[in-house]
Amino acid sequence: MRSFSDADGDGVGDLLGITARLPYLADLGIDAVWLTPFYLSPQVDHGYDVADYRQVDPLFGTLEDFDAMSAAAHDLGIKVIIDIVPNHSSSAHEWFDAALTAGRGSPERARYVFRDGRGEGGDEPPNNWRSVFGGAAWTRVEDGQWYLHLFEESQPDFDWDNLEVGDEFESILRFWLDRGVDGFRIDVAHGMFKAEGLPDVGGLDAGGGTLDVVMADWNRPYWDQPRLHEVYRRWHEVLAEYDGDKMAIGEAWVGSAAAMARYVRADELQQVFNFHWLDAPWSAQAFADVIGETFAAVGPVGASPTWVLSNHDVTRPVTRYGGGELGLGRSRAAMLAMLALPGSAYIYAGEELGLPQVDVPADARQDPTWLRGGGVGRDGCRVPMPWSGHLPPFGFGPDGTHPWLPQPEGFASLTVEAQSADPASTLAFFRAALTRRRELLSTLSQDLEMLDRGPGVLAFRRRGVADGAGLACVLNCGETDHRVSDLGAPLMLSGPPIDAAGKLRPSAAAWFGA
Ligand code: GLC
Repeated sequence: MRSFSDADGDGVGDLLGITARLPYLADLGIDAVWLTPFYLSPQVDHGYDVADYRQVDPLFGTLEDFDAMSAAAHDLGIKVIIDIVPNHSSSAHEWFDAALTAGRGSPERARYVFRDGRGEGGDEPPNNWRSVFGGAAWTRVEDGQWYLHLFEESQPDFDWDNLEVGDEFESILRFWLDRGVDGFRIDVAHGMFKAEGLPDVGGLDAGGGTLDVVMADWNRPYWDQPRLHEVYRRWHEVLAEYDGDKMAIGEAWVGSAAAMARYVRADELQQVFNFHWLDAPWSAQAFADVIGETFAAVGPVGASPTWVLSNHDVTRPVTRYGGGELGLGRSRAAMLAMLALPGSAYIYAGEELGLPQVDVPADARQDPTWLRGGGVGRDGCRVPMPWSGHLPPFGFGPDGTHPWLPQPEGFASLTVEAQSADPASTLAFFRAALTRRRELLSTLSQDLEMLDRGPGVLAFRRRGVADGAGLACVLNCGETDHRVSDLGAPLMLSGPPIDAAGKLRPSAAAWFGA
């Protein structure tokens, strides 16, 4: 939301900016957009601290701008998925204000997790939990009680045992469904409920760790609690009341594919992010294991898998895979393999340009993770998109715009404009791969057969439906060329052409008819 396109030149992306760029997205070949939170918010966690779930923050525009964006997207055949943040609100939410004013023991306070402290005078926090962003997960208020915030201290956790909270979120879902949204991305979907008695966490180190690591530590008594599933069953029913195949996808960083599958049982969420693909190291075996475990997990519950390499919380894949040409080649190859798999593929803005992680100067960093001492933070993957031109703001906003995070000079060669003119660019690769994928979609079976082509090589095949042609995908994670001449001419390549001897280079992937 903040980093895509800025129409009014205040340095922060907005709804009008998105509307103006919808033709670009349609041309890219996507089916849906997911917008990070645009609700009224003090922006301490860049919108994930919501003060009013039914209002658009003036930073991003108005409710009318949202409706116009949504209508324009729908006209182009693009669905709109919005982010819902049910684990916590902002401390600027009127409920939290009321909780502070009404005092201990009040029904207003019971909407959040307030507790008395431990030790003499209750001076110690109620337990040893740490914030995902670093530092303590408890903050003390004037009358001596403490409130829980698994994230920033201005993000108090709701108490989901309080039925009022569930009713409020049902009403929020309906508010946006009535406005025509197609689905929801559920923030911290494995949070919300906390284990009975809020027990201390054993073996907790003092550091925050990176978000993906902390969020996936499933032994913590605030993740993946069984009562969550009652909420998702209720939400399933709400979505089912609306026409048009509404959906919800959970951001559930759970420890195993099997745990993930519980969120997508037939009467719960439609999808859950499969972060195991994103977490896999550059290894054919690791990718194969994730594929195997994913299908073993979602198959029995009848859910379709999802695949993701990147989002606004993790290091950009180009950098994760080694940076430079190597990292870019690998990220394109991993993407091509991902796009060949049955299920839904999620792409993070800028991934289609091959943007690397940016080393944002320390004095420009804004992520609460950094500000709370929890590590370098996530700003490096959130630097505003380069669209055109040779200098910042690279078309992100009108000339003279100062993007909320500084763009590096190196973005000049990565702009949409520059890449559109180059048939070998990462953008051209994405456009071609997404077009091919769409053409092949209805012709391929959902089943997957793994092929053994030796160590270092991930290979699989999807059969064609009704005796039609299938698709084989080969990803070379090894150190040496891999001969693919037996597979015929490639349909798609992630990188350099296959050489005359029919060999696929290391760190490249290809599709073949099969
Ligand atoms: C999710 C979001 C992240 C946010 C956090 C707290 O992990 O993706 O950006 O900071 O939740 O809401």
